Order: sequence, then structure tokens, then C-alpha cells
Amino acid sequence: MATWSAPGKVFLFGEHAVVYDRPGLAMAIKPRVQVTVRRHRRPAPAKSPYIAQCFREIGVTGSVYVSSQMPSSAGLGSSAAVTVATLAAANDEFELELGREEIAEIAHRVEKTVQKGRASATDTFVSTMGGLVLIMEGSRRRVPPVNLNLVIGNTQVSHSTSRMVELVAEQLRLRPGVVGPVMDAIGSLTLEGVRTLDDPRSLGRLMDINHALLDAIGVGHPSLSRLVLAARSAGAFGAKLTGAGGGGCMVALSPKSGKTRIAGAIDSAGGRAFITNLDTVGTRKENDA
Ligand code: MEV
Repeated sequence: MATWSAPGKVFLFGEHAVVYDRPGLAMAIKPRVQVTVRRHRRPAPAKSPYIAQCFREIGVTGSVYVSSQMPSSAGLGSSAAVTVATLAAANDEFELELGREEIAEIAHRVEKTVQKGRASATDTFVSTMGGLVLIMEGSRRRVPPVNLNLVIGNTQVSHSTSRMVELVAEQLRLRPGVVGPVMDAIGSLTLEGVRTLDDPRSLGRLMDINHALLDAIGVGHPSLSRLVLAARSAGAFGAKLTGAGGGGCMVALSPKSGKTRIAGAIDSAGGRAFITNLDTVGTRKENDA
């Protein structure tokens, strides 16, 4: 039996723009998903299509127990975390000797198959490696960690990443002269954000601008606007939607002492808040459950 965990993620900058090769900055966050894999010749069929596909990819069979506090389908990369932790636990249980890069690659393949073509390579990479990850020029690399106090607000409005990605593609097709420069501006925000990581006040301002640009290309939602405004009024340095938008989650950057107040304001505005920060460790072995 082997138990491994993996973190979720938020985009600090650059969601949607990364799909069009602009830079983005993503960050691994708690809570972690924990998966236990045990060798089994004839296990009960896996309930999650992601887990079933993991076993198909690596050609072994086992029984699986998942424990997760992370909201699913909220843009926090929970399916990627389950996929990565399943592969890492199976790797350990069956002594497959896969490296982290291979786990990230297989996890991306698993997500693409289950999601029928489109999957975020960022989600699986960040969940495997942890830390702050700069996506740029077709590659992903970790940048030095910083301590950011974050409050996540879940609108609990369900959304579909692929539908939001399609919607942006449509906008870009209809108005390339407008939406293209918005994508460029989001890319520039990412690069400025990376240079500003040690100045939370400026970083928050950049997040506000990124939110406005995402709204402008049509991936906002009234519930996201409500939570973003509530967080800013409660003292956040900045706040933006995170992930595909159209529902899902927002993220606020908080002063060290303001997290509880901001979380309370998000809850009062109809969201579900939780306080988090950077998870520097990617997938890791846990004591067996
Ligand atoms: C979804 O979490 C982020 C998007 O940019 C899609 C992707 O990066 O693959 C919308």
C-alpha cells in the first residue's frame, strides 16, 4: 500500500492568455488531495474516470482510496491533483521508477484522454512539482518561492473550462484586433507580476487589472464580481478570478493580518472562502492511511 498527496493550484496571472502562448504565473496551494493505492488483481472498477485512465496508462491494477478537501470543478485543479497523486502512489506501490517529469507528462495525457482532447498542462505540472510556476515560451519553470497570503472564494457556480476556452477562442476569432492586444496585456502583467512578487501592494494592483481584462474578454460572472469587490472592500491588496472563469473561484491577495476579515466578507457575499498560501512541495509520500 502507498499513499501520496498532491496540491491544487491557482493562476495568479495569465489564465486563458497561456492558451495563446502568452506568459502566465500559477501557484500550488493547499488543500492537498491524498490517494492510497494498493496492489489488487481484480479491484472494484474505479469511480473516477481519471483514476481508471491512470491505471490504463501505466498498465497495472490496484484499489484506490481518495481523501480530498479540495472543491472539485471549481478551477483549483482538483482532477489534476487526484491524477498526479494516483500516479505517484501507483509508481511507489508497483516500483515503476517514474521520475517527476514523467509523472507530470502521463498525468497530462490522462487528463487529455478523459477530457476528450483539451487539458491544462499547467494543472498537472504545478500539482507534480509544487511552488510558483512561470509558464513561458512553451515551457514551465519554477521561480523562487514567496510568502503570499491568499484567500480563495468559491462562487459555487459551476462552470466548464472547455466551454470558457471555446468562448475566448470565439471572441478572438470575431475581434482579433481587440482581444489579441488584451492577451498581450495579460502576458505583460504576468512578467511585471514576476518582478513584483516582493511588493504585495503592487502585485494586488496587477491582479485587479488582470481581473478587468478577463472580464473584458467575457469570462467574468456576476458572482465572481461580487466576491472580488467584497474582498477588495475588506482590505485585499487585489483580487481576481482564477482559472477558466464563468463561475468557479476567485483569489484575493491579503495583508498578513487581514485574511480572516477578507474571508468573512467573501462568505457574507455568498461565497465559500478559505485561507491558503504557497505549497512549495509537489506530490509527496504520506504515511499510509
Ligand atoms: C484553466 O484553469 C486555465 C486556462 O488557462 C486553461 C489552460 O491553461 O489550459 C483557462
